[in-house]
Amino acid sequence: MKFFLDTAEVDAIRELNDLGMVDGVTTNPSLILKSGRDILEVTKEIADMVEGPVSAEAVSMDFESMLAEGEKLAKIADNIAVKVPLTWAGLQTCKILSSRGIKVNVTLCFSVNQAILAAKAGATFISPFIGRLDDINLDGLQLIEDIRTVYDNYGFETQILAASVRNANHISECAKIGADVVTAPPAVIKAMANHVLTDKGLAQFEADWAKTGQKIV
Ligand code: E4P
Repeated sequence: MKFFLDTAEVDAIRELNDLGMVDGVTTNPSLILKSGRDILEVTKEIADMVEGPVSAEAVSMDFESMLAEGEKLAKIADNIAVKVPLTWAGLQTCKILSSRGIKVNVTLCFSVNQAILAAKAGATFISPFIGRLDDINLDGLQLIEDIRTVYDNYGFETQILAASVRNANHISECAKIGADVVTAPPAVIKAMANHVLTDKGLAQFEADWAKTGQKIV
């Protein structure tokens, strides 16, 4: 399973990238806003740092403008994946860019039907949003499972990039389902290391070690 970081914060990416935990990065307009950086500049910095795909999102709604933005974003670096929304304009853009060998991440996917269309348009990645479905009392993980089943039924090669990941449980469930990639905020990746029994065991070992009066170094 590949880990992408869902952030445009360069320092946070560097920290986990140095540990070999980062297979790629996803950004979106909200994350660019949060970073306070220029999209072209920060995307270039991230793409130079990380070996894997770095998603940069086109923001226009109409096909011609979206395509022009996608072409510009794709020129930032070889590892850019152009992110387009799951609209007809996005699917048109996806088809053209993917036929030119440019990686495309189709985002804002909330149904199996949308995922089928993205695969047929040649998407490299489909991004179903787990957390936003959970937010409206639907089952985000069930969508990941359903897309996995359908893609396997027909041999679609589009990678399932589970997005809108809000907690470490989402990640372990995606791993069991067989999502190809999970994109998550750095804090969620870090939370994967937490376990109450690890903390309890460590406190016990620390206390017992102090009683031995020994030192290792
Ligand atoms: C995906 O690529 C999106 O950037 C992201 O996962 C959205 O997550 P959110 O619903 O927490 O904003």
